[in-house]
Amino acid sequence: MSGQDAAALRAALAPAFRQVPAAAARHLWSCDDETFARTARPEPGWWGRQPGGYFGAAYEAIAARFPGADGAAEGERTRREVEAVLRIAAAQFGDRRPRILDVPCGGGRHARALAARGFEVVGLDLQEGPLAMLRPLPCAVADMRRMPVASGSFDLVLNLWNSLGYFLEEAEDLAALREFRRVLRPGGLAVVQSDLDAPAVAEGRWRQHMKVPLGDGVLFLVRQVPVAAGGLACLSWVVFPGEDPWQGPAYFLRLRDDEGWRRLAAAAGFREAGIARSAPGAVPHQAIVQLVA
Ligand SMILES: C[S@@+](CC[C@H](N)C(=O)[O-])C[C@H]1O[C@@H](n2cnc3c(N)ncnc32)[C@H](O)[C@@H]1O
Repeated sequence: MSGQDAAALRAALAPAFRQVPAAAARHLWSCDDETFARTARPEPGWWGRQPGGYFGAAYEAIAARFPGADGAAEGERTRREVEAVLRIAAAQFGDRRPRILDVPCGGGRHARALAARGFEVVGLDLQEGPLAMLRPLPCAVADMRRMPVASGSFDLVLNLWNSLGYFLEEAEDLAALREFRRVLRPGGLAVVQSDLDAPAVAEGRWRQHMKVPLGDGVLFLVRQVPVAAGGLACLSWVVFPGEDPWQGPAYFLRLRDDEGWRRLAAAAGFREAGIARSAPGAVPHQAIVQLVA
C-alpha cells in the first residue's frame, strides 16, 4: 500500500471508524466471549445510511483491499461465486436466460460479471456510493425490505456474500424474504449465499479472530462471537503500524440452521427451500440456500 493509498484509507475510515487506545482494542480482542458480546452491541440500524453506519466508504475501502476469506484475490472469489450462480441458473432455467435482481449488490461485482455474460441484471443497494461502480448498468438505491420493483418481474433474486441477517429483529429478515418472493415469477428462484458456518455458530463451536493483511503492514482485524440471538456479535479494527487502531461500529449477523431456513422460507411464501453447505468446519465455508417461488 503506497503512502497515498494509506492516506486514502484513513480518510475513508472516518466517520464510521474511530481511533481507540491500543490497550482498549487489545482488551476487546482478547477478553472472554461474554464480555466481548456485551461490548459489541450494535446500534439499531447499524447497517443503515446514517453517517457512521457500517456499510459506507470505510467498508468499501476495506472490502476493495480485502484478499478474501481463503486468501484468494477478490476477483477470484467473485469468479467462483458467479460460476456457482451460473450452475444454479442452468439447473433451474435450462437454456432460458433468467432476468436477475442482485440485492444488495454493493459495487455490483456479481452484477457486472453476469451482465458481461449477456444476462439482464438490475442491482439494488441501500448505499449510493458503491452503485457508482455498477453504472451505467441499471441499479438504484433501495432497502431490501421495500423494493421499488414490480411484482413477478424477475426470475432470479441473488443475495450474495452474507447479505441477509443484519436486522436486529428476525421479523425484518422475513420482510426482506417476502419482498424477494413478491418480485419473483412463479417458478423463480432466490439464492442466498454465505461463507459462514451457521450450524457451528449455533452450537457455539465457531468464533473468529481474523487478521487480514491489507498491504504494507496495515492489518484488518475482525472478532466474531456467537450470541444467544442466533448469530454473531462482531467488531473490526484497522491497524496501521505504530498507531492506535481504528475501531469500527459493532455489527450483527443472524445465521440460520437448515430448519430455521425452512421455517423462514415457508413464512415468506416460498414453495421449497434447498440448502447446500460445505462439510462442517470447512474453510472457506459455503452455504447456498435456494428458495423456489
Ligand atoms: C456484505 S455486502 C455484499 C454486497 C454484494 N452482494 C457483494 O457480494 O459484494 C452487504 C451490502 O448490503 C447493503 N445493505 C445493508 N442493509 C441493506 C438493506 N436494508 N437494504 C439493501 N441493502 C442493504 C450494504 O450497503 C452492503 O453494500
